[in-house]
Amino acid sequence: MPGTCVIGMQWGDEAKGKLVDLLTTQFEIVVRFLGGANAGHTVVTGGETFKLHLIPSGILNPDVMNVVTAGVVLNPQTVIGEIEGLKSRGIAVGDNLMLSDRAHLVMPWHIEEDRILDGADVDGENIGTTLRGIGPCYRDKAGRSMAIRLGDMYRTGFRKKVEQVVTAKNHVLGLQNGHSTAQLDAGAIIEEYSGFAPYLEPFVADSTSYLLNAMETGRRALFEGAQGALLDLDHGTFPFVTSSNSSGVGVSAGSGVPPRWITKMIGVVKAYCTRVGGGPFPTEQENMTGQHIREEGNEFGTTTGRPRRCGWFDAVAARYTARLSGIDQLAVMMLDVLSKLPEISICVAYELDGQRIDHFPSQLDDLRRVKPIYESMPGWGEDITGVRYIDELPSQARAYVSRLSTLVGCPVGIVSVGPDREQTMFAADFAALA
Ligand code: GDP
Ligand code: IMO
Ligand code: MG
Repeated sequence: MPGTCVIGMQWGDEAKGKLVDLLTTQFEIVVRFLGGANAGHTVVTGGETFKLHLIPSGILNPDVMNVVTAGVVLNPQTVIGEIEGLKSRGIAVGDNLMLSDRAHLVMPWHIEEDRILDGADVDGENIGTTLRGIGPCYRDKAGRSMAIRLGDMYRTGFRKKVEQVVTAKNHVLGLQNGHSTAQLDAGAIIEEYSGFAPYLEPFVADSTSYLLNAMETGRRALFEGAQGALLDLDHGTFPFVTSSNSSGVGVSAGSGVPPRWITKMIGVVKAYCTRVGGGPFPTEQENMTGQHIREEGNEFGTTTGRPRRCGWFDAVAARYTARLSGIDQLAVMMLDVLSKLPEISICVAYELDGQRIDHFPSQLDDLRRVKPIYESMPGWGEDITGVRYIDELPSQARAYVSRLSTLVGCPVGIVSVGPDREQTMFAADFAALA
């Protein structure tokens, strides 16, 4: 059966890019179906590091078709920069890349709005967006009248549409910013985007029809999630989320591929937790442990360079997102990062107002008040970055992975002990396709 998904189970940066790159050999198509340049997916191969934002992580495999679908918000300048960056490093980008004509364009006003609005506190805290214009672009998509799609750049109405939106945005931005914003210049924006249009034209197509044909004829597609399930707009830690459905439930809406073709879900977790930006994080360690994890895991944002907040593995949250995304198998990444810790804690339940709870609260104020209930396991105290078989991991490391699996309620198919392709171990029963 044709469709497999890789979904982040936490707050993003679970090493989805590494996993997608690794699995592409078993697929013909890799699909990015949500988010935009807020994502930063790292692939390390042959000693070289690639950081991808909008282009699917299948691009490093020359035999794979890479599709960016309607659910993605696309900044044309970023895509062009990424294509040029890849080409300059000898990676072929041509008819192996398709950009949906339905994808919404991130326009200069979206970036400006993100900058202005992110300064506003939500519930006394800042969302801390990536400032890539993601939220404002999705808001305009839902609002419709001020939205512009990639396909619109090739239609006669493009100029008029930009002029009309710029008039409205200048008004709104002026109000939002106390009339201090520099006015958007419609002519300059039209000129800039008209420059992007011919460059991107060969890549633009109806990706929805392409994927429907592909699935109906049994072609094998790998769906590359972005962000993580706890950042899901509807089911995550709202309002400290991103503006699209980043859990498994978003695959069909974003790609246009109905659920009947999605046959396998792989959930990616770190062996601990991280979060960038604001919002509740029950197991956060604002202490030496958090600092140790940040240093060992090099936990700094791929897109913004911000230090990531670090903490213990939260099995309550992961169990919730594994159920939400219908996960079949887990990939446990960054296990090596914990190697020097003598004891490792896992959050197995929460305490809320004196009561033990096992579920992930839906309301922000509850989530802010929960106290993690921890279970402690002994560390393994040795370097595991060179281990290549799960059976050869130290017994304490195997026990830790096995405990995560039990608590989350899914078998572990993959364990990763370093950024390189080679530093990955597969369970005997792991199969990327159902
Ligand atoms: P993504 O957004 O989910 O693709 O993840 P990011 O690329 O933002 O962050 C994951 C980081 O961890 C990258 O720098 C990877 O190169 C690195 N990485 C991936 N797997 C491992 C691993 O098993 N161990 C270590 N130490 N680093 C890893
Ligand atoms: P990948 O795909 C980690 C976070 C931001 C912020 C919130 C909203 O690399 O895992 P946005 O710019 O989307 O409006 O920001 O979501 N965020 C991510 N955190 N990894 C990501 O992507 C993220 N994309 C968005 O830090 O808290
Ligand atoms: Mg990332």
